Amino acid sequence: MTGAPVRVGVIGAGLMGREAAVAIARWPALADHPVRPRLEAVCDLDPGALAWFDRIEGVRLRTVDYHDLLADPDLDVIYIALPHHLHEQVYRDAADAGKDFLAEKPFGIDLAAAERIVAAVERAGVFVRCSSEMPFFPGALVATELVRSGAVGRVIEAHSSFLHSSDLNLDKPVNWKRRVATCGQIGVMGDLGMHAVHVPFRLGWAPGSVYAVLQDLVPERPDGHGGRAPCDTFDNATLHTRVQDAAGWFPLTFETKRIAVGEMNTWRLRVLGMDGGVEFSTRSPQIVRRFRVDTDGRQVWEEVQPGNRSAFATITGAIFEFGFADAILQMWAAFLAERAGALGDALGCVTPAEALASHRLFDAALRSHASGRSEPVPG
Ligand SMILES: NC(=O)c1ccc[n+]([C@@H]2O[C@H](COP(=O)([O-])OP(=O)(O)OC[C@H]3O[C@@H](n4cnc5c(N)ncnc54)[C@H](O)[C@@H]3O)[C@@H](O)[C@H]2O)c1
Repeated sequence: MTGAPVRVGVIGAGLMGREAAVAIARWPALADHPVRPRLEAVCDLDPGALAWFDRIEGVRLRTVDYHDLLADPDLDVIYIALPHHLHEQVYRDAADAGKDFLAEKPFGIDLAAAERIVAAVERAGVFVRCSSEMPFFPGALVATELVRSGAVGRVIEAHSSFLHSSDLNLDKPVNWKRRVATCGQIGVMGDLGMHAVHVPFRLGWAPGSVYAVLQDLVPERPDGHGGRAPCDTFDNATLHTRVQDAAGWFPLTFETKRIAVGEMNTWRLRVLGMDGGVEFSTRSPQIVRRFRVDTDGRQVWEEVQPGNRSAFATITGAIFEFGFADAILQMWAAFLAERAGALGDALGCVTPAEALASHRLFDAALRSHASGRSEPVPG
C-alpha cells in the first residue's frame, strides 16, 4: 500500500474507539490516499476494552494511563473518544503535549470547557478536528453540493436533524450519556448536535438567535443493578433558529432526539429555496430527493441515485451500497488528508471553531429554555 505512514493511538476503547480501529484496518479499501495510518497504541481503564484490541494487528502499547500515549514520540495522531466530562482535561493535555488529534463531540462538556480547549489548541498550533461522519454519505455530499452551488436560489427554510428512538425502551438502563454530570447540561444536543450543525455551519449559516424546546421525557431509568437512577439529561431538543444570509433571513431548524419514534440513527437535511430544494436522509441512503418546477409550471420532487461515490474513492463499485462504517472510513480519510494538506475541495471534518460555535448555539438554547424566549447566539 502506498502513502506516508501515520502512527495512531486511541484513548477510549469503547464504541467509537473500536469503530476507529476497524476503519483504520479497512484502509486498503481506499483506492488512493496520501497517507497510510497504522494503529499502534490504545488506552482504556477497562481491561476488557483493552483486550478487544488483541484482534488488531500491530498494537504495541496497551495502557490504562493516557499520558503514556501523549508522551510517546512515535505516535503522530491520537483519537480521543471519552465521556464528555473528560474531554477538557485530555484534549488540553494532548494539545500541550504537541499531539495532533481527532476529537469526539461535543468537544468539551460545556461552552466554558470548549473555549479553554480551543485556546489550548491555538496556543499549541496542533492539527485538531472533531468527529461527525454522517455528512460523508454520498447522498449527503450531493445534497450539500447542490445547496452550496446556489441551485436552490434564495433559501426559504432549512432543517437539519439527527434522530434516534432507542430510548423509547424504558427498560434500557441509564448510562453516562444520560447523566448531566458526565454528558453535560446540554444533554442530547451534546450527544447528537455536532452531526446536525456540521453541514449548515460549513454552508456558512450562523444562527443569530434561537428559540429552543427541550424535553426530558424519561427522568428515571433502571440503574443496571436492580434499582432506579435519575436520567436527568434532555432527551429531545428542537432549536428554531434565525439565519441571515445575503438574500435575507430564513428559519433553520435543528432537531436532535433520542426519542424520535420510528427513527434509528437517522441524519437528515432538507433545504427549500425559491428555485429548488433538496432532501437527503440516511433512512433512504440510496436516494437524494430534488425539488424543481418544470417548464410547464408543475412542481416535481424527483429521485436522484447518488450511488456509492465517496469523496475518497474505494475499491467498492458505484453500484453497491454505502453504510455507517463507510462513513467512518471516509471521515478518517478526510481528517488525515486535511492533516497532510491534501484535502482539496473535499468536505473536511468539523473544525475547533465550528465546535465552539455549536457550543455557543447549545448554550443559548439552554438560556432560551429557561427564559421561554428567543435568545441571541453570540457570533
Ligand atoms: N461520532 C459518532 O457517531 C459517535 C457515536 C457515539 C459516541 N460518540 C462520542 O464518542 C465519545 C465516546 O463515546 P462512546 O460511545 O465510544 O463511549 P463508550 O462508553 O462506549 O466508551 C468510552 C470508553 O472510555 C473509557 N474511559 C473512561 N474513562 C477513561 C479514562 N480516564 N482513561 C481511559 N479510558 C477511559 C471507558 O472505559 C470506555 O471504554 C463521546 O464523546 C461520544 O459523544 C460519537
